[in-house]
Amino acid sequence: MTSTNDIRASFLDYFAGKDHEKVHSAPLVPYNDPTLMFVNAGMVPFKNVFTGLEKRDRPRATSSQKCVRAGGKHNDLDNVGYTARHHTFFEMLGNFSFGDYFKEEAILNAWTLLTKEWGLDPDRLTATVYHSDDEAFDLWKKIAGLPDERIIRIATADNFWSMGDTGPCGPCSEIFYDHGEDIFGGPPGSPDEDGDRFIEIWNLVFMQFEQSADGTREPLPRPSIDTGMGLERIAAVLQGEHDNYDIDTFRALIAASEALTGVKAEGDRVASHRVIADHLRSTSFLLADGVLPSNEGRGYVLRRIMRRAMRHAHLLGAEEPLMHRLVPALIGEMGQAYPELGRGQALIEEVLEREETRFRQTLDKGLRLLDDETAAMSAGDSLPGTTAFKLYDTYGFPYDLTEDALRARDIGVDRAGFDAAMAEQKAAARAAWKGSGEATSDEIWFDIAEREGATEFTGYTTTKGEGRVVAIVKDGKEVQQADAGETVTVLTNQTPFYGESGGQSGDAGMIRDEDRLTLRIDDCGKPLGRLITHHGEVEKGSIAVGQTVQMAIDAERRDAIRANHSATHLLHAALRRALGDHVTQKGSLVTRDRLRFDFSHPKPLSDEEIAGIEAEVNAEIRHNEPVTTRLMTPDEAIEAGAMALFGEKYGDEVRVLSMGRADGDARSYSVELCGGTHVDALGNIGLFRIVSESAVSSGVRRIEALTGEAARLWMVGRDDALKQVASSLKTSPDDAAERVRAMVEERRRLEKELAEVRKALALAEASGGGTAQASAAEDIGGIGFSGQVLQNMDPKQLRGLLDEAKKRLGSGVAAIAAVNEGRAAFAVAVTDDLTERFSAVDLVRVGVAELGGKGGGGRADMAQGGGPDGDKADAALDSVRAALAG
Ligand code: ALA
Repeated sequence: MTSTNDIRASFLDYFAGKDHEKVHSAPLVPYNDPTLMFVNAGMVPFKNVFTGLEKRDRPRATSSQKCVRAGGKHNDLDNVGYTARHHTFFEMLGNFSFGDYFKEEAILNAWTLLTKEWGLDPDRLTATVYHSDDEAFDLWKKIAGLPDERIIRIATADNFWSMGDTGPCGPCSEIFYDHGEDIFGGPPGSPDEDGDRFIEIWNLVFMQFEQSADGTREPLPRPSIDTGMGLERIAAVLQGEHDNYDIDTFRALIAASEALTGVKAEGDRVASHRVIADHLRSTSFLLADGVLPSNEGRGYVLRRIMRRAMRHAHLLGAEEPLMHRLVPALIGEMGQAYPELGRGQALIEEVLEREETRFRQTLDKGLRLLDDETAAMSAGDSLPGTTAFKLYDTYGFPYDLTEDALRARDIGVDRAGFDAAMAEQKAAARAAWKGSGEATSDEIWFDIAEREGATEFTGYTTTKGEGRVVAIVKDGKEVQQADAGETVTVLTNQTPFYGESGGQSGDAGMIRDEDRLTLRIDDCGKPLGRLITHHGEVEKGSIAVGQTVQMAIDAERRDAIRANHSATHLLHAALRRALGDHVTQKGSLVTRDRLRFDFSHPKPLSDEEIAGIEAEVNAEIRHNEPVTTRLMTPDEAIEAGAMALFGEKYGDEVRVLSMGRADGDARSYSVELCGGTHVDALGNIGLFRIVSESAVSSGVRRIEALTGEAARLWMVGRDDALKQVASSLKTSPDDAAERVRAMVEERRRLEKELAEVRKALALAEASGGGTAQASAAEDIGGIGFSGQVLQNMDPKQLRGLLDEAKKRLGSGVAAIAAVNEGRAAFAVAVTDDLTERFSAVDLVRVGVAELGGKGGGGRADMAQGGGPDGDKADAALDSVRAALAG
């Protein structure tokens, strides 16, 4: 038997041998196409190559592409499990020519591979062509030698393939395999074509047109080839099976599910095992490609698939969560061809288990309600829509799960009633919101959200992608179009732009449509918590509702924001470790330039605390652990140790960010609930620098910090400043601090001195003028006397001061002690009329002796000396007084 893995490899090798480039499967989420929910065909990743937007080095390619058909145009979910060939996940083998070969070589290659390489019996093969495609008809005849009755002209859309409502398309030619007479069915186009005998195995699309939203078709730049062969179908043919679920891969997965449930895949159990095997593949691959279960968009499709499988596990009697335990079997089968499965194993298992555990909490109750409500019903009846809505709203039953649950009993569901109940609930939510008094200008967002649903944010994993414009708002009103020069707010169905929330700034960037539009986006918002609005100015061309646009954020700006946001988490954790668990976030702002974090703490942080916190954050950065994200319920998150923000309103699901090294209890350094964007690994933060710590209000402190390049530039700036200081001081940066310290000391001393001098001068001035001071002269036995002690007075000035004093006295004796650094200079002057009675020289000597000095000299009218005991200055004056008193 040829294994499915061998068949895949042999297909790719065959076309590689014909000069095709082997291209690895693109991820399931088509970031280059906003009109598609999931990649649903092998050509999707090459869409822009077909339309000429994108060039590849080589004009031929071959791939085995992961596809999911569980939403949008191609949706197989309802049938999976009950038929031989419906899958939510399958692989499409394809070969592509981008304006290189066309119909002839495509048909020749296909025929050769099927009949020569793989040895299929040509008699079992039938081809169809589009009814007007004579060229293809003739080629089948010429190349394959098929008789006319086995080249069937089909006039319907079956032979005109299109990717979706828009995009590349063209007439196609399908190859059918005849599984033999013992199976009921007729060839394509016959009345019995829906039977299972003739199975389409390969579709060759002659890509010639591009379809626009309005239905018109433009020719592609060059005719091209896109082919698609379901790997599971061809494996069935080559393995001699009729049913896809009997190929090796599915047998292995079903065997694993049988082993774990202990229930054989027989009778009415077959469908459940098939559902489980199929859904295991789609859910695991979607999780590996970054889709997480949610209540909107792609995440909801994933949840629907998961829950459908989980109901079937329950039906098989599995008492514990089952799906996650099947992941190793899937990896055993497909992990080699798709290494992303192995890389994502932990995440896949964790999410599956969590989702199943959670769903089991309501599954039983919901099924009981369903049983009660349908007990009296019989085949052909219909479950009221309100009950289906209750199951959805209260028990988490996706609509199709309820349908699936009733399928075996042939009971339908009233879809209209379900939709009406849903609409009623939305209206009630809106009324409640209106009553809450929020700005009515926001009402426009409600209209848009109701009409278009939430905006899907693709920016956790990408910085660019396409989006379809769903609304344009100008001056508070919706418009259909906006032109160059106008400032508008634009909404798209999906976007890589982050809308400002949780303290993180909105993204900036560009929205374009080739050369038809340039729209500069300066900021993005997140009204109602589920829409993302892009604000900016149309610089060129125009934008209209319905248009598909290319969106690219300013990735460098976002990188800086990411670094600041992750650093904020590390800072928060470091603060709690350093200061205690009373530290809680009071506010946070994360921009491209800096981060600001407010937290509760009663007093300023010391320099040592700040330095320690900064060092610890930088140590985590250098350790460069990857940052991981998990989706959980708020309760699970808090149990996992996440720091939740008290008073914040969280949805059903929260993102839990873990970063940094795990400590003793195996929890990462920081675990926080957060919807923001973060670095992949902590090393991307580069550097962390706290630049300020201050008070915001009583009990709330604020730290501002920088990361990465901003932190580096800040430090370079500091270094430059230091160099300038050093150069002004004529020293090196290393010695600058010491020099400054010395200068500060010197300055302090000088200031003190200056103050004293000023005082002395003031005193001197005062004593030199004005009658008030003149009366300070003493009368000692009829002799006028003026005595002063002056601090920090230059002794050279004594003579001048004494001359002044003499003048003031007219007749008398003046003495001044000038104290300087402990010592005192001492001088005495005697007016001429008294020199007969008193000699200045004698009087000075008396004072000098008091000051611990010796001698002193001069003339009878003016003499000077000094002594070491400056603190005896007053005593020196007193000794002169005593001498005068005789
Ligand atoms: N794109 C074509 C298909 O999906 C080959 O059938």
